[in-house]
Amino acid sequence: MDKNFYITTPIYYPSAKPHMGHAYSSIIADFFARFKRIDGFNVSFLTGTDEHGLKIQRAAENKGLEPLAFCDEISKTFKDLSKTLNLTNTDFIRTTEERHIKSVQNLWNELEKNDDIYLSKYSGWYSVSDEAFYTEEEIEEVDGKKISISSKSPVEWMDEESYFFRLSKWEKKLLDYYEKNSDFILPKSRRNEVISFVKGGLKDLSVSRKSFSWGIPVPNNKEHVIYVWLDALTNYISALNYPDIKNKKYKTFWPATVHLIGKDILRFHAVYWPAFLLAAKLPLPKKVYGHGWILSGEEKMSKSKGNILDPIEIIDQYGLDPLRYYLIKEVSFGNDGNISQEKLEDCINSDLANNFGNLCQRVTAFAIKNCEGTIPKMIEFNQDDLKILDKFKTNLDLIRDKIDKQDINFYIDFIVNSLFDANKYFNDEEPWKKKDDISRLNTIVYTSLEIIRKICYMLYPIIPESSLKALKIFSIEEKKIELSSIENHNYLKGGDKIKKIDILFKKIEKNHD
Ligand code: ME8
Ligand code: MG
Repeated sequence: MDKNFYITTPIYYPSAKPHMGHAYSSIIADFFARFKRIDGFNVSFLTGTDEHGLKIQRAAENKGLEPLAFCDEISKTFKDLSKTLNLTNTDFIRTTEERHIKSVQNLWNELEKNDDIYLSKYSGWYSVSDEAFYTEEEIEEVDGKKISISSKSPVEWMDEESYFFRLSKWEKKLLDYYEKNSDFILPKSRRNEVISFVKGGLKDLSVSRKSFSWGIPVPNNKEHVIYVWLDALTNYISALNYPDIKNKKYKTFWPATVHLIGKDILRFHAVYWPAFLLAAKLPLPKKVYGHGWILSGEEKMSKSKGNILDPIEIIDQYGLDPLRYYLIKEVSFGNDGNISQEKLEDCINSDLANNFGNLCQRVTAFAIKNCEGTIPKMIEFNQDDLKILDKFKTNLDLIRDKIDKQDINFYIDFIVNSLFDANKYFNDEEPWKKKDDISRLNTIVYTSLEIIRKICYMLYPIIPESSLKALKIFSIEEKKIELSSIENHNYLKGGDKIKKIDILFKKIEKNHD
């Protein structure tokens, strides 16, 4: 079995500081990376910044800075955010790096060599904010201004000499690929959108610009810079040392397991990128997952709309793990989701403080008092104990399968139910009434501790820091976490010390009007 796993986030535009939407994609990617790592996979996890193009050039001009100096500054805030979000990315790529420039120019040469690029002239609409071309049908006029119907961003007329990529040539090959690989584009609804877009007919794509200079030069014509999306998409292989396709990184991790992106950039990833790769005779990624949008009110949260939630402010106020948990649980994965402080506070109070934190405190406090502060020995499981323990064992393969389908909703429901069951088990079994039946009391405590351990393992990809804090009860360290051991009901060793831990989550006093 292939035990390598390569996940990527979009590389973000450093045109302004990061917002909650960026944090969201990155946290979800980190969730998968951590899950796969504790399941024994060799994980590569890439994120970074997309620094070329007119959008960035103009943003830099507005600040009176040279584009690179401007990018240096903002790219750093994205890199810092990776730390703040506790991401386990194994690389951070900037498209202004030499390794990437070399990679893009090489890909260009391949496309040209294979007769997939020709020089002509582009006349049409262009959105600098989306760095995208739009047809007459894809735009509308609002208050005398032409905007894109899908993104609502303004478009401007463009008329210049340009190189074109023969996208039309790949229409049939792309449709075949979608057909044969029914999981290539997920969720399913987005797959259908892409298929009907491609069936509608693909026009050749303009892939160079002449009217500005902030980009990677076309190798044999320095008057042109390469279209920023052809540049940006290539990052996924630049980070694996493309064009050296004989090197270990590339051989291990390409094709990528999953490109995780927002649905706004699906067309680029599910149509253009595979077409470029087909033309360059390179393997296609296994999957593109387009998640939904975080909404603020009814609208997509975005810089240009000025309705941004700042992840740093939320983290300062509530802590990182509550935000990670909340985004993973409350935004139904694949769909759009509204987020609010009110709901975040509910989540902290009920799920994290009550159901998880309190369970850990109660069980350990009871064990410390009644089991001499050690993991009980001589355990005899009865049917009730086995019933709750077995759930992890019998569902492990299903959990893996759901994760491979990016079904986070299943995963989180499983945890929420397990927490409910665990609390109910401890209440129903009433170990405090079993002081004259030590064997039974010990078994209840042991079972409860085992369940806490298993739940902590499953929570680790979501709330790594808090999970590790809770695992201190058993002195289990990060590198010892192995998902497969949730099958084992006798993992904890009788006689080992139980450690008291600090409160995991403080309840929020709610005094909203
Ligand atoms: O598009 N809700 O960069 P970008 C959820 N550089 N996710 C959101 C979001 C929201 N409201 N807003 C942004 C680009 N995102 C290109 C990508 S990849 C080769 C090049 C997330 O800074 C989501 O993942 O506009 C979206 O696709 C991405 O940020 C766009 O970030
Ligand atoms: Mg954007």
